[in-house]
Amino acid sequence: MVKSKDVCLSGAGLTKVYGFGRTRTLAVDHVDFSFYEGEVVSIVGESGSGKTTLAKMLLGLTNVTEGEIYFQGEKRDISTQRKRREYWKNTQAIFQDPFSSYNIFNKIDTVLLDCINMRGGRGFSRERKFEMMTEACSFVNLKFEELTNKYPFELSGGQMQRLMIARVFLLKPKILLADEPTSMIDACSRATILDMLMQLRSEIGMTIIFITHDIGLAYYVSDSVYIMEHGKFVESGSADQVILHPKAAYTQRLINDVPKIYEEWDLSTV
Ligand SMILES: Nc1ncnc2c1ncn2[C@@H]1O[C@H](COP(=O)(O)OP(=O)(O)OP(=O)(O)O)[C@@H](O)[C@H]1O
Ligand SMILES: [Mg+2]
Repeated sequence: MVKSKDVCLSGAGLTKVYGFGRTRTLAVDHVDFSFYEGEVVSIVGESGSGKTTLAKMLLGLTNVTEGEIYFQGEKRDISTQRKRREYWKNTQAIFQDPFSSYNIFNKIDTVLLDCINMRGGRGFSRERKFEMMTEACSFVNLKFEELTNKYPFELSGGQMQRLMIARVFLLKPKILLADEPTSMIDACSRATILDMLMQLRSEIGMTIIFITHDIGLAYYVSDSVYIMEHGKFVESGSADQVILHPKAAYTQRLINDVPKIYEEWDLSTV
């Protein structure tokens, strides 16, 4: 835990209601949280528990019904396009479906150049920009020469996810939200991507918020864990505290679905 550090992002009574009347859904129900600078936080819960909705509120992609979000100690203000852009410089996301994350009409060069421009590199020389793009691609084991002049949809799912990490490498946000970032790729690439994200975190000190069903992954990567059920946080704390000594019945159930993560394999019954 990195308690001594500053709170980077926090929420008080954060709530999201979709629809009205009979179609009303309370997707996120008065959650409170504090995410610290440089820590890895996991939000774990079953399908429909409200994880993506919470992520969308944190990113400013959907309205907050009730409650407040604080960014670096101050009430988040994204009321104008300019403030919104400034906030997005610091808060980036990797989504479940990388296809939805790019403007498909932009070539990869433009995707990466936009990142450099957003970080104040508009006036850099062509050579310098080329160098930065090449470096970002090689960080994620992609070759820039092979990507140049291509569109994101011409890449494989795994390559596209790595391109998303290359963007993060260039943008150096304070907060990275990763909603099931490795869902589309095989276990081997999954480990590589996680390693890349962890390496990025130690290089630029960003806070990573992982959103996952996988409590084993949460234990593996996180400092802190929040367990979400029906839009509420039923339990939170350090990864050890929550996963090795769960208090809520729901957390125990999630863990029992994957007993291997903290028990020795029992081969006597095989
Ligand atoms: N745009 C929307 N309009 C209406 N209801 C929605 C909308 N998006 C989500 N919901 C509802 O809000 C609840 C929470 O959905 P959400 O997508 O946040 O869950 P999740 O935890 O991300 O699930 P998953 O693990 O399957 O991605 C669900 O009941 C869902 O049906
Ligand atoms: Mg989701």
